[in-house]
Order: sequence, then structure tokens, then C-alpha cells
Amino acid sequence: MQSNADTIFKEFKEHSISEFFRKNSQMLGYSGKVRSLTTIIHEYVSNSLDACEEAGILPEISVLIREEGDEKYFIKVADNGPGIPAKHVGKAFATILAGTKFHRYLQQRGQQGIGAAGCTMYAQITTGRPIHVRSCTGKESFECDITIDIKTNKPLVTNMAKAECNSSGLEVSGLFGGIKYEESDHGVYEYLKRTVLSNPHLYIRFTPPSGKEVSFPRSIDEMPKRPKEIKPHPLGIGTNDLMEFAHKSESRKLSSFLEESFSRVTANKVNELKQLVREIDLEKDPHDLKWEEAEKLVKAFKEVKWIGPELDALSTIGEKQIEIAMKNILNPKFVSVVERKPKVFKGGIPFVVEAGIAYGGDAGKQLSAKGEDEQHVVEGNIIRSANKVPLLFDASNCAITEAAKSIQWKRYGIANFEEEPVSVFINISSVYIPYSGVGKQAVAQEDEIVEEIKLALMDCGRILQRYISGVRNKELQESRYKMIMRYVNQLSSDLSEITGKDAKEINRQLNLLIEKRYKDIFDAEKGEDAQEKKAVEAEPDSEE
Ligand SMILES: Nc1ncnc2c1ncn2[C@@H]1O[C@H](COP(=O)(O)OP(=O)(O)OP(=O)(O)O)[C@@H](O)[C@H]1O
Ligand SMILES: [Mg+2]
Repeated sequence: MQSNADTIFKEFKEHSISEFFRKNSQMLGYSGKVRSLTTIIHEYVSNSLDACEEAGILPEISVLIREEGDEKYFIKVADNGPGIPAKHVGKAFATILAGTKFHRYLQQRGQQGIGAAGCTMYAQITTGRPIHVRSCTGKESFECDITIDIKTNKPLVTNMAKAECNSSGLEVSGLFGGIKYEESDHGVYEYLKRTVLSNPHLYIRFTPPSGKEVSFPRSIDEMPKRPKEIKPHPLGIGTNDLMEFAHKSESRKLSSFLEESFSRVTANKVNELKQLVREIDLEKDPHDLKWEEAEKLVKAFKEVKWIGPELDALSTIGEKQIEIAMKNILNPKFVSVVERKPKVFKGGIPFVVEAGIAYGGDAGKQLSAKGEDEQHVVEGNIIRSANKVPLLFDASNCAITEAAKSIQWKRYGIANFEEEPVSVFINISSVYIPYSGVGKQAVAQEDEIVEEIKLALMDCGRILQRYISGVRNKELQESRYKMIMRYVNQLSSDLSEITGKDAKEINRQLNLLIEKRYKDIFDAEKGEDAQEKKAVEAEPDSEE
């Protein structure tokens, strides 16, 4: 039987964003049992780090995972951050698209207002249980249970009670199902290890299901440079953004709205814009801005010559720290690290790329795909990070992977990038990382970003190339030296027979010649011989 519009549209319904993500939880990173567990820890730990950094507190985070059977685990993450006021706690943990970060131009790990509520929803749909939050802000201390009303995307806060606390901080705990703890390259342990390496000021205590507590002490007692909150640059926004800003503005005139809301817009620049969009009354109320007018203004923005966006808004990991991190993880023979100068993408969003290459040791061996979430990890020897958060999944879809694979590694002495003992590390810092999915595991392939990653890797590659050619040259010299030394005695006696001169003297002269030519190798071998002799002399004679 055929349906008509009336019968079809009996099924017409409106759904909340929570319902959408309940049905598509894989988009938030909840696919695969190991990955789902890492996602929960990643969301909570990133939030704790952001909160501590914004409050200027050296972060101390504890993570506990306890197995409760049947793919169920009790998880607790606690921090010493500023806590959350009671009136905001419900929305922070149980309204998708609510938070203190989405609307700001400030380099932070979170930027969507989805992560924490996503965890609450995942607990709810896998165990039917609420999450429990304990918060101490210094002014108030409370604990409560929180669930999401999935139909309305609104929080349900229950069992609110006063809590006893000595210092500020937030603790969130819950029972989660459909997850699995595994010590694989994309499991929680690896995630925390790499988080600590990118955040040397962080102290983490981790209790895995085995109960054996591990501590990752901080290696720096100072907070990193605080990222500065900036206003958006006119070149970084589109028509829709401009409409949104204008309609929310508290300015009385369009001209003052432009000056107050965007960076680099001065009274002079407003006058320049006026000449370009004569038909728009810049004295009108910004709430009355129409789409066509916003479109014209955005076009005019592109014609004005602006000073670039403020570049000191960014906070990087730092060359020294990356070097230490790569040495710690990979135990390589050589590391080269480069921090590029900040650049801009989409015309107005500042970002900066840091890159490192490690060669030898365990480089190239790490992070191979294994475990049951194998399909997500195609990472091989490319270690990715964005705003100091390790990216463990969705590698094939990421600007970092794309850039690293497009480098002509042969030029830098690497004949086969996939096979040789080489690993690359990339961190991108920005006030807005253009992730290609809500799960925030891959960076979109924006041209300027891909280009900068390539340049950073090429900078490191040139330094690596000098090292590799030095090593190869030395190996060549060593093999020549060995070859000559193998024949020197025979050659001396042959020459003695031909010339009638003393073989010993010829041998001495030849050795002098070899010493002169292969001085470094000769000296090194002599040094080793002397050390060996000393060691033999120092050894007590066992027969005596
Ligand atoms: N440990 C914490 N301490 C203080 N505030 C927190 C903490 N965890 C979460 N919040 C608050 O709750 C809000 C919502 O967190 P959530 O993880 O959902 O979003 P986000 O971090 O803003 O963005 P993203 O979805 O990208 O993670 C945050 O913006 C922050 O204001
Ligand atoms: Mg978050």
C-alpha cells in the first residue's frame, strides 16, 4: 500500500541534540570497548586540566578505574581545580552544548561543550545510573547525582547534599558499561603517559583495575604560559558568525559593535568599511543586521588591509619539553625539534605547529596497531597532539597524518618512512582547532595547517639528514678502516719481499699512514683497547 504525505508525516517528530548523540554515540568516540574507556578518561582529564589552568592552579589529578564485572567499570576522576558552582553543575554535566569554552577565542583543550555531558549520557545508556559529582569552590561544597533528560537535553540533579572539603576541586564518578581496560597503545595508561609528557606541570595518580597505583610526577613546577583570550579577527569569520555575534551584541550601534567585538577593528577601519558598504547604515542597531548586509560586510572585510591576529594568544609545549618527551618514550639515538612561528588559517585564526623527529632506538616501533580497536589506529610512527591533548584515534583522517605522509622522506636520508626507525611528533596549538569530528581525534585538512606541518617536518628533516649522513659517512669509513687493517700485515710482508726492506718498519709506516687517515676511528679503537686492558687488569684473578 502506498503512503501519502499525510500518512508519512504522522511520523514527523522533533528530536533533541541529546537524542541525536544517544543514537550516534560513536561520533563522540564511543565505539570499541577500549576506545570508549579512553574517551571517558580523555574528556574528564582534559576538563580538569583546562579548569586548573584557567584558575592558575598547578594541576593534580587522580584517576581510578575499578572493574565491576560484565564489561562494567567504576571510574572516578578528581582534580584540585576551581570546582563548579552548584547552579551550573547540572548543565555542565548534563546539557549537550553547554559550557564555558564554546563561545570564546581562548586556547583550551575543550571547545564544544559536549564532552562531560557525553560521558553522563554514556553512563546512563550503558548502566542506567547517574554520575556523581562532588564540587568545592571555596565558597560552597556539595555533592549530587546527575542524569540527562534525553528528550529535552536538560539536567536532572538529585540527592543534592552538603559535602566536607578542605580545598577546592571537582570529583566526578560513575559506573560505565560496554568498556574494557587494556594496556594497549591506545588504552588509558598510554593516554595518561602521553598527556603527562605534553603537560610537564601535571601530576597524575592512576589506579588501574589491578589496584597497583602509578604516579606520574611533574617535571616542571611552573604553570605554562597562560594563553590569552582574544577577540575574533574579521578575516576569520563568516556571514553566519557575524549574524550570531551581532544579534547577541550589547552594543547600541553596528559601528561600535564592530570595534568592540573584533580584534584590529579601529575607528579608522570602520570608516574604511563605511566606504565599501555605503548602502549599510553603520549607525543602526546590530540586532537589526540582515543576512544580506552581513554577507556584504564579510566581503568588505576581505578588501580591507588588516594587521594579522594577535599571535601571543597561543601556548606551546616547548622544544625542550618535546625533546625530553621523545627521548623518554622512544629512547632514540637522535632527536630534532622545531617550533614554528605562529601562522593564521581561514584568514584570521592563529595557530602554531611544533614538530619533532626521533631516529633510532624504539622510534618507528611505537604505537603499532593492536588490540580490538585496531580499525581506529593506523598511526604507526606518527604521534599526534592538539592543544597538548594526545590524539590516539582516527589517524587516517587527520591533517597531521596527511602532511607527514606527503613528505619526500628520501631527501632527508629516510629511504622508507614506514619501515625505518623513525617517529615524528606534531602538536598544533590554536584558539580553535578545526577537528574533523565531534570526537576531536583528527584535525581537518585546512591548507594552511597542512602546509605548516609539512614545513615544520622539513625543518626537522634537514637537521636529521645532517645527522644521518654523518652516521652513514662514519659507517663507511669504519668499514674501509676494517678492510685495510685486515690486510696490513700481509701487505707489509709482500712489500718487504718486493723492496727488500724491513717488514716491521714497513708495517709501522703503514700503520702511521692509516692512523693519519682514519684518526677518529683509530683513536676510538685505541681508547676501547685501553679500557678493556684496564678492566682485565682490575679483575681479580679467580685462580689465585
Ligand atoms: N573538572 C572541572 N572543573 C571545573 N569546570 C569543569 C570541569 N569539568 C567540566 N567543567 C565545566 O563544564 C563545562 C562542560 O564541559 P564539557 O567537557 O562538556 O565541554 P567543554 O570542555 O567546554 O568542551 P568539549 O566538549 O570540547 O570537551 C566546561 O566548559 C567547564 O565549564
Ligand atoms: Mg571538555
